Amino acid sequence: MVKPIVGASIAELCCTLFPECLKVADLGCSPGPNTLLVVSDIMDSIHTTYQKLNRPPLSLQFFLNDLPENDFNTVFR
Ligand SMILES: C[S@@+](CC[C@H](N)C(=O)[O-])C[C@H]1O[C@@H](n2cnc3c(N)ncnc32)[C@H](O)[C@@H]1O
Repeated sequence: MVKPIVGASIAELCCTLFPECLKVADLGCSPGPNTLLVVSDIMDSIHTTYQKLNRPPLSLQFFLNDLPENDFNTVFR
């Protein structure tokens, strides 16, 4: 449900600010399959937007945040 909203927000942000580095924080990412799926969707949105604008690729930083019990080894595995 939020995918088009995130896509539109990214397009608006990129078209107005033209950032060289975009930082994304997932505050409550969980160690489940959604974690990197969200990262992948955001990267696709940015890639599509920048291709349409004929802009060179930008740097991306993703911050994954959750409670201390979250097992980040599961995410990276
Ligand atoms: C409903 S889950 C959503 C997980 C994931 N974002 C998703 O869409 O599948 C909420 C997540 O927020 C985390 N969370 C809850 N309170 C938090 C806090 N104070 N700081 C960081 N993460 C928190 C939980 O541990 C859980 O992983």
